[in-house]
Amino acid sequence: MTFDRSIKIAPSILAADFAAFGAECEAVEAQGADWVHVDVMDGHFVPNISFGPATCAAIRPHIKGVMDVHLMIAPVDPYIDAFADAGADIITAHLEAGPHIHRTLQAIRGAGARAGLALNPGTPAEAAAALLDDVDLVCVMTVNPGFGGQRFIQSQIGKIRRLREMIDDRPVHIEIDGGIDPTTAPDVVDAGADVLVAGSAVFKGGSVREPGPYGENIRAIRAAAEAARR
Ligand code: DX5
Ligand code: ZN
Repeated sequence: MTFDRSIKIAPSILAADFAAFGAECEAVEAQGADWVHVDVMDGHFVPNISFGPATCAAIRPHIKGVMDVHLMIAPVDPYIDAFADAGADIITAHLEAGPHIHRTLQAIRGAGARAGLALNPGTPAEAAAALLDDVDLVCVMTVNPGFGGQRFIQSQIGKIRRLREMIDDRPVHIEIDGGIDPTTAPDVVDAGADVLVAGSAVFKGGSVREPGPYGENIRAIRAAAEAARR
């Protein structure tokens, strides 16, 4: 993985057909996805359960590019090796998931993955200040984590802008997760984001058999995002 600040669209397979994850990953990549975003939920840190490391390992051979694993679990540390062994390129943990986030980020890098730090909507940008040299990505949640298809929380735009200033010239991605579609993408990109996660806005209208709409949806988000860069 090389670092650059180009716009990257990362479909969340939380909105895919759970009975066809492998084919869904191949379909979104063929339709123009840059990364594949994998949402892991434990029914404890967030009020929903999705899947765990065995599923990540099973889908890994179906992803040619970056597998971006977002852990909405607590505790995190006992499971880092399992997700790294499953082939995650990026492992993102929540700042709110425990008292020792710095240790967690170090353990992620120690396991050979890139380290991501996710911030819930109620957590200020400044909470990340002491961690910016220890991360490869900051994920700003623009919904409360746990479910796809929620409404974008507009108040997070100022936080994205602040994080962009704080990150300065460090090679750290700013990823936005929740409620991204062609109407919300321009504001987050203008504020400084480069990675856009999108679940419902990518998978709507398509299927593994009829993947064309995935491509149209990805192109629409990308066009709206890139227009905001100019
Ligand atoms: C929310 C997840 C998101 C979610 C995005 O807890 O982390 O990745 O699936 O879904 P949309 O794009 O539908 O808001
Ligand atoms: Zn996510």
